Amino acid sequence: MDHFLYRDGVLHAEDVPLAEIAASVGTPFYVYSTATLVRHFRLFDEALAGMDHLVCYAMKAASNQAILKTLAAEGAGMDVVSAGEYLRARAAGVPGDRIVFSGVGKTAQEIRIALDGGVRQFNVESEPEMEAISAIAASMGVVAPITIRVNPDVDARTHAKIATGKSENKFGIPIARARDVYAHAARLPGLDVIGIDVHIGSQLTDLAPFEAAYAKVAELTGVLRADGHDIRRLDLGGGLGIPYTRGNEPPPLPSDYGDLIRRCVGHLGCEIEIEPGRLIVGNAGLLVSQVIYVKSGEDRDFLILDAAMNDLIRPAMYEAHHDIVPVVEPDAGADQHAFDIVGPVCETGDTFARHRMMPPVGPGDLVAFRSAGAYGAVMASEYNSRPLVPEVLVKGDKFAVIRRRPTFDEMINRDTIPEWL
Ligand code: LLP
Repeated sequence: MDHFLYRDGVLHAEDVPLAEIAASVGTPFYVYSTATLVRHFRLFDEALAGMDHLVCYAMKAASNQAILKTLAAEGAGMDVVSAGEYLRARAAGVPGDRIVFSGVGKTAQEIRIALDGGVRQFNVESEPEMEAISAIAASMGVVAPITIRVNPDVDARTHAKIATGKSENKFGIPIARARDVYAHAARLPGLDVIGIDVHIGSQLTDLAPFEAAYAKVAELTGVLRADGHDIRRLDLGGGLGIPYTRGNEPPPLPSDYGDLIRRCVGHLGCEIEIEPGRLIVGNAGLLVSQVIYVKSGEDRDFLILDAAMNDLIRPAMYEAHHDIVPVVEPDAGADQHAFDIVGPVCETGDTFARHRMMPPVGPGDLVAFRSAGAYGAVMASEYNSRPLVPEVLVKGDKFAVIRRRPTFDEMINRDTIPEWL
């Protein structure tokens, strides 16, 4: 459920008509609903009730300071994958002991920054990384808490570009080697080995792959404890999918996922962490755009928008589907017409949807891409020298620009000219 509904014939974000934001901010822009963000966070938090747990929002999905502060105020921890994300979380007021540092290639600089500012744990992805963290921690006179990410060789049954739990993927250490790697970690001076981490992919619409992975983690917990390791924390990753197409069967709910976690690992007495990103922010955000032209082609009509692949890359990159709806509510029996919905960027890949049935829309009309809150603004670029798309946050009847659109001069003046030119 989200808080983007038609009221009096106009799509609203909570109590604010989108046309009002468009008039003030210009298009395209992202808009997020505070109520939806908070609701989704609480669904996860409640799903794990009764277990010692921390929901660490995977901020790679949407990392605006205002979004982080909204979730941090709810008690969220953060899952970060770079020094930039770590520092963003700290700037939003998240204490180090609520920040989990994931990512397959942490640099020495990133490790130092996190150790210096405080970190809940590093999720270690390889033996060389483990040695680097130990050496850096020892040189700083501290001990780094770590889990080791195991690759359970489970098929997440999602898009190939976002599946991470098969042996051919770059992530984690093969679960079959876990005993050796944990023994190695235990011998390193700068590490406190506290647990196990697993993450098998994103946009999972079926619980079975989670169950397969978590069963392997539960078994490994017993094996490692028997080897003498004090396994007391399990980071079970993120990945629960969201409904992108209205009317299709929705993916399992956070409560189903919580029940599965309880069933698979609840008896182990470990502290549980999860790292959801998409489910918290995906359906809490829209991309709003204006129709520039309607162009009749040889065998199809094109709806040309002022948003493009640089603003929302998911359709071009993952063949992702986003529902696109007019901001002014169409009449109930309105005729539908097929369009290819495209942006102005000079690539055929700049196509949001092919042969999409739409009610009557024309130049100047506003449309909204649903489910665009996750991996939308954060993956935007200035390709074609289009200024970075702004972000807006709504709360009740209030809205605020939480990242403004840069001016053309700001964009151009970031470049510097060598003295020989
Ligand atoms: N934890 C780790 C270690 C991850 O790699 C990810 C996502 C998450 C948590 C959060 O997963 P989520 O709950 O959001 O599914 N750009 C792609 C998605 C990439 C996901 C990368 N890792 C997209 O637009 O579909």
